[in-house]
Amino acid sequence: MHRNLQLVFGAFAVVAATLIALRPDAPHPLFQAAGTIGYAIAAVLSFGSLLAPRDATRRILIVFHLLFVPAQFLFLLAHQAPWIGMALSVVITAALRPRFPRLGRTSRKTWLTLHVGAGVGWLGVSLAMLALAVMGMTADDPQARHSAYAFMGTFNVALAIPSVLFTMVTGAVVSFGTPWGLVRHRWVLAKFVIALALPVLATLEGSWIDLLAERTADPAAAPGGTGTLLTGAMALFFTLLWIAVVLSVFKPGGRTRWGLRAAGR
Ligand code: HEM
Repeated sequence: MHRNLQLVFGAFAVVAATLIALRPDAPHPLFQAAGTIGYAIAAVLSFGSLLAPRDATRRILIVFHLLFVPAQFLFLLAHQAPWIGMALSVVITAALRPRFPRLGRTSRKTWLTLHVGAGVGWLGVSLAMLALAVMGMTADDPQARHSAYAFMGTFNVALAIPSVLFTMVTGAVVSFGTPWGLVRHRWVLAKFVIALALPVLATLEGSWIDLLAERTADPAAAPGGTGTLLTGAMALFFTLLWIAVVLSVFKPGGRTRWGLRAAGR
């Protein structure tokens, strides 16, 4: 089964590299190049692993796909095809049945510090983006209105996306490396779903920001309904992140079905 998946992933990587490379008007040329090279490497590794014995490649493939999920998330800035690749990488990782070592006391604290810092940073970025959305919607001065949306675009790519990645990677480490697990406790699973849902929703929000930044370059143009939608979306993101904080501290809901099974109950 895992060899068939490797074959499917190798074929997908060839198609994705080609689609990304040939896209004529990619908004972020750096991520277009990264996506093309990334999928070319993925194709070589996937097909190459079929030639070697399973045990020799299992570890390499687990590490590769775990790192390739966040990498493909960045390739989304160049094309939508990486959504499929991210899903395939998750399925392959699960099929390879990875076992994670428990974190020691100091490394758990270090990773938890990074995780809390990343999550809190993300919350701050989302508050700043909500403020910019309100400013863009309400400012009378056309220059201020346009600057608000231009800043939002920069915040989105330079701050929000790295914050999502950093929070999810550190969140995955403190989940897999501790008895909490990723799917064993309802509060962790709920946070994971929130953290996954936000970037999916952000693909819409990102296109609204680009549209508004373009539209408001004309001083006579108003943000209109898209401006209101964007403010609503930013308010929703901010609320969801606060819910993640509450879940983290109160840890409600107990164990999931998988958590009960793992505990032998
Ligand atoms: C992929 C998503 C996430 C996962 C899998 C995750 C997982 C975890 C786990 C397992 C812990 C406990 C670690 C330990 O006890 O060593 C934790 C702690 C924490 N997380 Fe997350 N988290 C995620 C997203 C977030 C987000 C989005 C925020 C905030 C906006 C956040 C804020 C916190 C805080 C404040 C703690 C410390 C709680 C405490 O020590 O009492 N996490 N997280």
